[in-house]
Amino acid sequence: MYKNLVIFGTRPEAVKLFPVINALSQYPDMHTEVLVSGQHRHMLDQVLSISGIIPDYDLDLMRTRQSLDMLTARLLKAIGVVLDSAKPDRVIVQGDTATAMVGALAAYYRKIPASHVEAGLRSHDIYQPWPEEVNRKIICNIADQHFAATDRSAAALRAESIPTDRIFVTGNTVIDALHWVLKQIVQNPSLILGLAPLEARFRGRKVIGITTHRRENVGAGMVNIAAAIKAIAVRDDVACIFPVHRNPDVRAVMHDALGDLPNVAMIEPLDYPSFARLLSISHIILTDSGGVQEEASALGKPVLVLRETTERPESVATGIAKLIGTDTQRIILEISTLLDDDAAYAAMARGRYSFGDGHASQRIAEIISNARLQ
Ligand code: UD1
Ligand code: UDP
Repeated sequence: MYKNLVIFGTRPEAVKLFPVINALSQYPDMHTEVLVSGQHRHMLDQVLSISGIIPDYDLDLMRTRQSLDMLTARLLKAIGVVLDSAKPDRVIVQGDTATAMVGALAAYYRKIPASHVEAGLRSHDIYQPWPEEVNRKIICNIADQHFAATDRSAAALRAESIPTDRIFVTGNTVIDALHWVLKQIVQNPSLILGLAPLEARFRGRKVIGITTHRRENVGAGMVNIAAAIKAIAVRDDVACIFPVHRNPDVRAVMHDALGDLPNVAMIEPLDYPSFARLLSISHIILTDSGGVQEEASALGKPVLVLRETTERPESVATGIAKLIGTDTQRIILEISTLLDDDAAYAAMARGRYSFGDGHASQRIAEIISNARLQ
């Protein structure tokens, strides 16, 4: 039987691929296996657990502060071993992580075709996001199916001479995941009970939901962001809820700067339902994450993006997201404006942009199934 192998290793890939795995599993004449690298551990397992995905292979590769060289080398060896024994007919990777790039490369070394989910994101700056911009380009050179979330991503691929018949505009599977989790919450409200104590503590305040993790922001950027949050948190009308990424380089800065502030809740990474709830109760989202930008834009929440460039210009163009970089005074100014100027807030909130219609995964599964029959 035709065998797909879906390869991923981090939290955002898990969020964006569990709907694809579920959609592929609906085809009884295809067998779909899952290989996780364990590039992330705790944050990956949170998504596996809520989505019910049980990996067929788990490389458990995460080490604290491992270098990109070491991670890449270990991924290549370990994924190669699995490919040689599993012998898939097709490999499916998502996005731009080290696991995705190496998964595609290991497939290429064995002449196994690769599908790329969320293809065509480009900032046109190889250091922002770093190293993801180049990871995307490497995968793009290998893949024979490019699943672009938007027309703009498809145009970026065409501009790089990818044949048009290999590009498919599907929408972003993060919207499928978001719809799924919101439905789960309605059916089972106890899924978000973990956030209830914070909701009670901060009732009546404007919640600022915060995430940070980008490598380009580690160091000075994180210090600046922390200083801005500290300054905003003196206001008695706000509450900052900040699930802190497990990266020790992020944690050290944030805990030093924000550890004991009454209006800042620094918490462990939230499971996906609780994080979706945090997005829903937030007045403003402050983030350097790609996936969070997409989810917040779809929910109509103004997003202040802590980056200098974006490979997701769609939400900036509609106004729901604003690129503000990591200068402390600029961050304070942008947050203050949204808190104090109702017209400025309404103008951003009106710009809601959705990166998909919630059916991207079905489209992807169908395309993979059809291509197999050709
Ligand atoms: C990776 C991806 C990035 C993605 C991000 C999502 C690459 C090159 N980058 O970056 O595209 O946006 O994940 O979060 O693949 N850690 C833990 N526990 C965890 C997860 C991470 O302790 O559950 C630690 C790791 O040991 C490591 C650090 O966090 O020291 C960074 O993790 P890593 O996967 O190397 O890169 P990210 O910067 O998270
Ligand atoms: N997320 C989560 N819990 C959190 C923070 C984020 O489940 O505490 C989810 C979020 O909903 C989104 C994904 O993680 O789907 C984004 O991951 P991350 O920001 O680590 O990576 P990026 O999207 O920037 O690659």
